[in-house]
Amino acid sequence: MGLNYDVAIIGGGVIGGSIAFQLAKRGKKVVVLEKGKIAEQSSGAAAGMLAAQVEMGRETGPMFQLAIQSRAMFPQLAEELRERSGVDISLINKGMLRIATTQEDVQELKEVMACQRQAGHFADWLTGDEVRKTEPALSDAILGAMYIEHDGHVLAPELAIAFHKSAAQLGTEIREFAEVKSLLIEQGRVKGVVTHEETIRCEQVIVATGAWSGQFMEQVNMHLPVYPVKGECFSVITHRPLLQSTVFSHGCYLVPKRGGRLIVGATVKEHTFDRKVTIEGVSALMERAKRLLPGIAHAEFEKAWAGVRPQTEDGLPFLGEHPEHRGLYLATGHFRNGILLSPLTGVLIADLIEGKEILDLNIRPFQVSRNVTV
Ligand code: FAD
Ligand code: GLY
Repeated sequence: MGLNYDVAIIGGGVIGGSIAFQLAKRGKKVVVLEKGKIAEQSSGAAAGMLAAQVEMGRETGPMFQLAIQSRAMFPQLAEELRERSGVDISLINKGMLRIATTQEDVQELKEVMACQRQAGHFADWLTGDEVRKTEPALSDAILGAMYIEHDGHVLAPELAIAFHKSAAQLGTEIREFAEVKSLLIEQGRVKGVVTHEETIRCEQVIVATGAWSGQFMEQVNMHLPVYPVKGECFSVITHRPLLQSTVFSHGCYLVPKRGGRLIVGATVKEHTFDRKVTIEGVSALMERAKRLLPGIAHAEFEKAWAGVRPQTEDGLPFLGEHPEHRGLYLATGHFRNGILLSPLTGVLIADLIEGKEILDLNIRPFQVSRNVTV
């Protein structure tokens, strides 16, 4: 009955792609099953920030370590993916400014900076004048900023595509428009998946279905608390770049890409899969962007888009084997940081599948058993 693989990965986003790439490098026979097209959901919508320090706040525990270790993988990964797939993920390392516009922000960011320095990571404080000396187009209203030298960014859709193409080059089969409808489970062990047109037998199954993970697990009669959080973005183009560093503030970030392109993100709306771009969302972002960077008012509008982030109840991703069903792995719930966390997620899941002990990271907080009721 059906086709045989070592591993079937459900979901063709950045997480499924990274895992496929790592498993293919280890000689596994892998199939990726994507209900639409590769990299067209959250991974295709992301701004691509590698904001390991800027997005984590005071957190310096396992989630921060996951982010820091994953960020460190990008320089070598960018080279390797270009070699294998021909896709340039445009890794840019020009630092990130987390902006303070009130005295409360100044206080909070200085505390965050102290936590990160204590954990051994570079974080510097710039006064408002120093910020404007570095980035002259930024507003006079900025009181200061936490400067993080090592938080860069990539092109998110290219990263997801590069993972899949590299995996394919190593023998992975990528099937688009192949929605997985159910799992084959025999005596507590997963044995394969069933799509709308075929049954695929395999040793392990990985659920990397992003914001749809909660829905998918319900469909196969299991519970996993993952829900969608919509985000809208837009981009503009200028002849001369308005910024060099990425700028991150309350409810708005500005990410300068090559060629004078600037991504402005992102709104946050929980519990909806609706990907419509709204006037309300984009106009709010435009107002916030103009307050930070007044000159953006004269930039040429390029386009706007939306995606749905996969969030969990405790804010941590699920990374590991299902407690009740051997061979069934979850890699989902990366919320705002799936691009950043994708390289290490691929390695961790491949290690777990190979039965390797994870020594240099505490992955207990990410175990599937912490929350799942079957
Ligand atoms: P997805 O990319 O959504 O992939 C899941 C795939 O599974 C989808 O393609 C879906 O079609 C498929 N699927 C679902 N169900 C099935 C099924 N039954 N059968 C087959 N296929 C199925 N992260 C960062 O690190 N940095 C950022 O700057 C950043 N910016 C963001 C900005 C926005 C506006 C948004 C929305 C997100 C942003 N993120 C960012 C978050 C990041 O995009 C996500 O965390 C990440 O893309 C999640 O990857 P994924 O592979 O889990 O999900
Ligand atoms: N990490 C940026 C976002 O999710 O919007």
